[in-house]
Amino acid sequence: MRVLVVGGGGREHALAWAWHRDAPADDIVVAPGNGGTAAFAVNVAVDVTDAAAVARCAGEREVDIVVIGPDAAAAAGVGDACAAAGIAVFGPSAAAARIESSKVFAKQVMQRAGIPTAGWVAGDATEKDRLRDFVHAHGGRCVVKADGLALGKGVVVCDTVDDALQALAACLDERRFGSAGGTVVVEQRLDGVELSVFGLSDGERVRVLPPARDHKRAFDGDKGPNTGGMGAVSPPPDHGIDALVDSVQATVLQPCVDALREMGCPFVGCLYAGLMLTADGPRVLEFNARFGDPEAQVVLPLMGEPLPALLTAAAHAALKAGTVARRNGACAGVVAAAAGYPGSVHTGAEITGLETLDDSVLCFHAGTRIAADGRLRTAGGRVLCLVAHRESLHDATQDVYANLGRVRFDGMWYRHDIGATGLAALRS
Ligand code: AMP
Ligand code: GLY
Repeated sequence: MRVLVVGGGGREHALAWAWHRDAPADDIVVAPGNGGTAAFAVNVAVDVTDAAAVARCAGEREVDIVVIGPDAAAAAGVGDACAAAGIAVFGPSAAAARIESSKVFAKQVMQRAGIPTAGWVAGDATEKDRLRDFVHAHGGRCVVKADGLALGKGVVVCDTVDDALQALAACLDERRFGSAGGTVVVEQRLDGVELSVFGLSDGERVRVLPPARDHKRAFDGDKGPNTGGMGAVSPPPDHGIDALVDSVQATVLQPCVDALREMGCPFVGCLYAGLMLTADGPRVLEFNARFGDPEAQVVLPLMGEPLPALLTAAAHAALKAGTVARRNGACAGVVAAAAGYPGSVHTGAEITGLETLDDSVLCFHAGTRIAADGRLRTAGGRVLCLVAHRESLHDATQDVYANLGRVRFDGMWYRHDIGATGLAALRS
């Protein structure tokens, strides 16, 4: 087979790697790919948000299936353009991707399907009174979310009424997120520990994958600004997690897929439920219409069934029901970032030490490229994600950190507590 993986981050390196692991004879094309995918796949320079260009690339290269990585590609209609060209796609249509690209739409789907989530209200600048009333009724303990995609920056978790009113003004009056913030969702702030659960769907059935926990804040102890994710573990060491995942499949993932189908936009792809585990049970904070990054890097190595067969079945409305088999053990992944991330970063630093990594440690590239001088250089904020798969999460985190100490590039930094946070909260 020939597959086109759309995207160029660590998630797409992991998807291409898992495909290559399970089907080494297949041809893999990655658009645009990175310095890591160049080692075993063909990188082609295509803008992932140019749906026509991606479909043209897939057609010219006669691929059998397109696998969409980033939300921006799905929201831009890459899935629709490829399907219109008669190419099988693993990834949602733009209409189905609204489950991620519009927070209001996601809340409406959850309401329709009876999916447990935080209490909420939505509105635009003409409905400020209603939004402010909600803020006051909750004593300011709420979360203000720009409706549209805002590069992960459109969510403000508030402690006080002032915080929340300021966040509302930033969206609706100052238009900090442009049209993405023209409408906002204000929701009740929930307490608990977060968990991410993923399901592969063919529009009808859902096959659930190993769960993961992401570490979104930049610095140790969950301090600092939000990032795309500084590391992840799978499965998290929570007590009773398998039963919890089964219940999330039944009460969250399947109802969401059913509702989207009934609404005329069947969801094909990876449906990602971001949950808060509260004292009253799991509540959905958000849906994403894709694999998480860096969650994919720790989930895909644990999958006990071949990725190509699963994604192909999903793209052809032929998934079987049930949980995807899982390998034993656990994975830990830690992201090495460039100075300045998640703000603006300096790129072009040479990356060294990768040849000294243990053979058993996976090194997924994100912001890397092979420069004109043939050297591997940084090309983005999140540069690499090292992943170890071991019998225990403890061994996996130890080995990741031992190996990270051998990687060097100017300005490199990472969190030192991946796999540790969340545990304290769970024990207390
Ligand atoms: P979202 O993009 O909606 O997942 O929000 C980003 C992050 O904001 C989540 O991962 C949570 O850490 C936090 N968050 C979102 N919604 C809530 C909520 N209702 N209560 C508490 N924290 C939240
Ligand atoms: N790591 C969070 C996400 O992919 O949305």
